[in-house]
Amino acid sequence: MAEEVFLSPRKRGRIAVLISGRGSNFTKIHDAVRAGRIDAEIGLVFSNREDAAGLGIARERGLETMFVNPRLFPDKEEYDREILREVRTRGIDLVCLAGYMKVLTPAFCAALKNRVMNIHPALLPAFPGLHVQRRAIDWGVRYSGCTVHFVAPEVDMGPIILQAAVPVLPDDTEDSLAARILVEEHRIYPEAVRLFFEGRLEVRGRRVRILDPT
Ligand code: GRF
Repeated sequence: MAEEVFLSPRKRGRIAVLISGRGSNFTKIHDAVRAGRIDAEIGLVFSNREDAAGLGIARERGLETMFVNPRLFPDKEEYDREILREVRTRGIDLVCLAGYMKVLTPAFCAALKNRVMNIHPALLPAFPGLHVQRRAIDWGVRYSGCTVHFVAPEVDMGPIILQAAVPVLPDDTEDSLAARILVEEHRIYPEAVRLFFEGRLEVRGRRVRILDPT
């Protein structure tokens, strides 16, 4: 069987950002959109938490925001179907998870294959999951960093788009390492979104090739 190849669309796109907290990665993506570095607009900032600070920032910036309470849904499947409906209604091309603390269902991931990105504060496949800066320090690794990847049903395991490494210093605390990594997150997440809408991300199996600009 021929290998399936996905090529990201070269177009002016529409982005939905899913957040659960402070939204600094969302803010950096929006900064890049506003500066014209990403050829897209943000059509929705969605949260599973009403108190997510990022929702307030999005409102101040005049973006459409939405909070949907997971408790009002019988299960995760129904909840994710609701998100999918909202995403489709708005003609969204790319969903960016930016500190979204809920695991997406396999059905959601399959419906939007290669259309959902996530940022993770470690060099995947090392340290998937939670508390990753603490675990990196406890392991004594010399380098950690961050990864932007497409989302697949296995948590934190989809095709890797961009990574950046930072040193782990002897006196690092969880917070100091997280802060060093966050600087790189803010650089590579907007960059990955830019490459997506420049039609420069080619996915074959679990490998992503970054095509030269044409
Ligand atoms: C970031 O460290 C990101 O890597 C992780 O959650 C955090 C979100 O931070 N997935 P923010 O809400 O974007 O400031």
